[in-house]
Amino acid sequence: MKNNAIIITGANGNVGSYFAKKYYELGENLILIVHKSEHRTKNLVKDHSDKIKVIQIDLSDYSNLKIKLARVIAKTGWKPDRLIHTATARSHAIKSLSDSDPELWKNIINVNLVGTFNILKTTLKYFKENSNGKIVLFGSNVSRIGLPKGTAYAASKAGIANIGRTLATEEAANNIIINTVSPGPIKIDDSQFSESYRKFRQEYYEEKLRETPLKRCASFQDIFGLCEFLLSKDNSYITGEEFFITGGKI
Ligand SMILES: NC(=O)c1ccc[n+]([C@@H]2O[C@H](COP(=O)([O-])OP(=O)(O)OC[C@H]3O[C@@H](n4cnc5c(N)ncnc54)[C@H](OP(=O)(O)O)[C@@H]3O)[C@@H](O)[C@H]2O)c1
Repeated sequence: MKNNAIIITGANGNVGSYFAKKYYELGENLILIVHKSEHRTKNLVKDHSDKIKVIQIDLSDYSNLKIKLARVIAKTGWKPDRLIHTATARSHAIKSLSDSDPELWKNIINVNLVGTFNILKTTLKYFKENSNGKIVLFGSNVSRIGLPKGTAYAASKAGIANIGRTLATEEAANNIIINTVSPGPIKIDDSQFSESYRKFRQEYYEEKLRETPLKRCASFQDIFGLCEFLLSKDNSYITGEEFFITGGKI
């Protein structure tokens, strides 16, 4: 029986829950990291509890994450060998830098950058024990074009890509491969967002789609296809890269 496993953060999110379902269908063991809500993963987990373990946690809490992950791994005997890190905080306040509340700004950096450090540090321990690991981090096209009224999000996404580049060199000798996938607009369910944030996103998307040669948002399948390859045995040489999925828009 296969005892390797994939860790997915943001597993109740749009992209994360799609990945969880796809990898479950491919027969993988899954450790799903969720935050406040669980509605998108509930049915999957209920029906398949022997293949899926859920950790509910704020990723900015390092100690708790370390303890909870260790508990799941001890209980299942799984050997995690892949990490897909989709969890993110967003710039919901929609404020320019000069109007930003320092605490809200810091919170986005904390979840997105410190949270990325935390999940990488806790996960690398297991990958290194087995001298085997592949990682996909989620950035965004805003890491190269910026995001007006979203400096914290834009800064954190650029930071994530640079963590990936750095880690690829630090961990190459341990047979650990890491890449960042940076999409432009993705077609998602935005019903949980506030009306003002939905409007902000809609206007931003309309503007970006006008400049996108392929004239549509990325689908979950567009993103899954690339990530599946990067995490597969077929990828033994591509590491430290940032891949933009933007329908031809630079
Ligand atoms: N959607 C797009 O158009 C787009 C475009 C470019 C890049 N991306 C990137 O692609 C990735 C996936 O996007 P998505 O649309 O699937 O995002 P999403 O639906 O908003 O999901 C993000 C997930 O992160 C979780 N999360 C937030 N704060 C957390 C914390 N402190 N600790 C642990 N988990 C936390 C959220 O949980 P709760 O809801 O329970 O708080 C949520 O399930 C993200 O990294 C995003 O930046 C998305």
